[in-house]
Amino acid sequence: MVALGDWEALARDRLDPQAWAYLSGHAGDGVTARRNRDAFRAATIVPRVLLDERDAETPVELFGRRIAMPILLAPVAHQGLFHPMAERASAMAAAAVDTILVASTLSTLPLEAIAAAADGGGQWFQLYPQADRGLTDELVARAEAAGFEALVITVDAPVFGVRNVEQRAGFRLPPELAPANLAGRASMATSSDADGLAALLAHRPTWAEIERIVASTRLPVLLKGILHEADAERAVAIGAAGVIVSNHGGRVLDLAPAALDRLAPIRDRLGRDAIVLLDGGIRRGADVWVALDRGADAVMVGRPAMEALAVGGPLGVARALATLAEETAITVALAGRPGDERTVMVAGR
Ligand code: FNR
Ligand code: LAC
Repeated sequence: MVALGDWEALARDRLDPQAWAYLSGHAGDGVTARRNRDAFRAATIVPRVLLDERDAETPVELFGRRIAMPILLAPVAHQGLFHPMAERASAMAAAAVDTILVASTLSTLPLEAIAAAADGGGQWFQLYPQADRGLTDELVARAEAAGFEALVITVDAPVFGVRNVEQRAGFRLPPELAPANLAGRASMATSSDADGLAALLAHRPTWAEIERIVASTRLPVLLKGILHEADAERAVAIGAAGVIVSNHGGRVLDLAPAALDRLAPIRDRLGRDAIVLLDGGIRRGADVWVALDRGADAVMVGRPAMEALAVGGPLGVARALATLAEETAITVALAGRPGDERTVMVAGR
């Protein structure tokens, strides 16, 4: 397995068609999911030569924790669909390669079990605000108590969107994989579940609700799923530490722009102080380089890490992350440091 893309075919063979549909699926016709990738393919790196770089590593410090690579594991729900160890495997992998796992509200395992597998590594908790405010507050309190170091509030999926891939495959979440954190109190379920969708529609969080959560927690907060610079600005204005530029991997609103194409305008609007992450379509170290060059502090990967999980469990995920970090270092060695004035980015910058 030499590249991130190598895991895909094996994962597809290994997973049942319903789980594969959920993992690989997208909203609508997949236009946005493809755009995420195409935006990286359209980017150009003009290398600088004979730079006096001593090393090509790209460690990053986020909320006081220094990690080995600017590459995090994106929050992905229901990881028990992909491997029996579920999120425990991802947590072990992230710790092994010295990066951060973002655990989903909709994890198969309870958040405390994920935290216990961190092994000294850093973890963030991704919050889906619940219709029941008490349940939302309980989730935040549990994440704080379990040692999660930041809160990622996902704001781009008040409903699941048009998810025909899963519908055609007849995907339903097996009852034994119901999200442990919500333990029967779920106001969210999966896309093709009509009851879940109705519950979701009953709760669309507002700016006021997000502001309330930000004020109520001692954890730094990032809003995930921001594509407009005005929303990025508002996120910071209500107290968020920054944003994750993302279209949810093209899984919610089809025809949304590529995440990469929204990165530079959002960084420009927020200035250097805010934290800005990006996800969607990262498959190569060169992609990581381009994202950093256009202003990201770090990136996150979703589907490829889960394909590696399906095939190789914790070792697979660790290998996938290490591959991406190695490729990023090779790109730095060949092109110079991203964001360095000496290196020139063209295409959209
Ligand atoms: C996701 N994503 C996601 N995001 C989130 O905030 N909470 C969640 O529970 C989930 N669940 C989820 C499940 C699956 C199967 C996938 C593939 C994705 C979105 C995820 O965090 C991230 O935004 C995208 O996956 C990034 O795009 P790539 O890396 O998959 O191209
Ligand atoms: C998804 C939800 C769970 O993308 O965020 O499937």
